[in-house]
Amino acid sequence: MILVLLGPPGSGKGTQAERLTDKLGLTHLSTGDILREAVKNGSELGAKAESFMKAGEFVPDELIIDMITTKMEETSNDSGFMLDGFPRNLVQAQKLDEIFKESSLTIDQVIYLNVPRAELAKRLSGRFYCPTCNAGYNYPVHLPKNDGVCDNDGEKLLRRADDEENVVQKRLEVYAKQTSPLEGYYRGQGLLVEIAADSDPDEVTQQIINSVSKVKTN
Ligand code: AP5
Repeated sequence: MILVLLGPPGSGKGTQAERLTDKLGLTHLSTGDILREAVKNGSELGAKAESFMKAGEFVPDELIIDMITTKMEETSNDSGFMLDGFPRNLVQAQKLDEIFKESSLTIDQVIYLNVPRAELAKRLSGRFYCPTCNAGYNYPVHLPKNDGVCDNDGEKLLRRADDEENVVQKRLEVYAKQTSPLEGYYRGQGLLVEIAADSDPDEVTQQIINSVSKVKTN
């Protein structure tokens, strides 16, 4: 099974992918996570990507397409993939169609997480993470026991550089301009399933499972 998670920054792609990949036996491929890891490791890819990410802009298509193609080849999983953060514009979507055509693969569903813009900004401004164990927190809905430090290891919590307010606004604009056309692209192919994702995370997970179970039984 191949699923694509589509949605603006803060719509819950990472949160839902984490909950669903084990349940569905899929490999989670998040371009954002792969890029952040590359920046952290000081790799050549990380050095090329960092300034774009900090500014809330897209990393150039050729770097992203190379990176995700390699990752899909390296990750052999007969059950399939959940793509999170890719494709993100029409060039990437068309390239993915080509890659899949060559390997006789098809996308089963594109899950579009729809969340109002005000809620997105609120979620991103409240997001913190532990740099050691990567645990996530969100003020005020998921607070650590002691303000500003991780429950698991007492490490000081950090914010993602691209969660600063001005960068968040830029990321939301870039989504509206470059990624939202993919909603129509996949709707036209009969693949888009829209989920109202501004409810409780458990409810969102259940809605996605309900939708995906229809693919499995088809
Ligand atoms: P990426 O990491 O993919 O960032 P993003 O798409 O902006 O998404 P986020 O990770 O911010 O949000 P999310 O939708 O995963 O939400 P989350 O679950 O974390 O990409 C980062 C950068 O990398 C890009 O800006 C770009 O520079 C580059 N890049 C990546 N892919 C690229 C590509 N294909 N092409 C070019 N460049 C690329 O949730 C957010 C917060 O909300 C969390 O705190 C969470 O706890 C909370 N939350 C989640 N669900 C709920 C809920 N239902 N109710 C309340 N709170 C919730």
